[in-house]
Amino acid sequence: MLNPSDQKGAIVKQPPVLLSEASIQARVRELADEISRDYADKDDIVLVGVLKGSFIFLADLARALSIPRTIEFIAVSSYESGSVSTGAVRLIMDVRGNIEGRDVVIVEDIVDTGHTLKYLLGILASHRPASIRTCTLLHKAEAAEVEVDIDYVGFSIGNEWVVGYGLDYAERDRTLPYIGTVEPDDRA
Ligand code: PRP
Repeated sequence: MLNPSDQKGAIVKQPPVLLSEASIQARVRELADEISRDYADKDDIVLVGVLKGSFIFLADLARALSIPRTIEFIAVSSYESGSVSTGAVRLIMDVRGNIEGRDVVIVEDIVDTGHTLKYLLGILASHRPASIRTCTLLHKAEAAEVEVDIDYVGFSIGNEWVVGYGLDYAERDRTLPYIGTVEPDDRA
């Protein structure tokens, strides 16, 4: 759609493309191949998608794997002071299934400061899995506030605000097929 319009017929500006749909799809297949190779000798891995942002990445990654996989979800929320994250994270919903003794891969859409992933590693470790690895589509290395190991990274990006492919800005643009940038003027 070149000129999508909203329900009142006004032209809606589309975010400029940072990562195209084709480049995301190609990279997701590469990540899936790498994970499939690394876990080739396992009976099953558990992909834990972090809601909400990872839902599209998780769906594509899970379907591109060539090894048996089980899907779980976990939901967390950042404590915010105004629009600024305080770095504290709280658990909204834990995994439903039993992951004790199993090989877990946390699937994130983006690692920014690293606080969320660090918190998740602690929560999931308390379930005593056999192993935990981490996978993120996007990594904002410059924004890191805490050190956290990431085993699989789709793309390293700069400090821009990004939307699409699961990521939102104030709940907008999660279903864009590509990753776009949110310009300062659009941050209403
Ligand atoms: C995003 C993203 C990660 C987290 C990363 O979630 O999905 O979970 O932020 O940020 P951090 O590295 O600075 O901790 P968000 O809070 O936007 O919620 P959402 O996934 O529901 O959109």
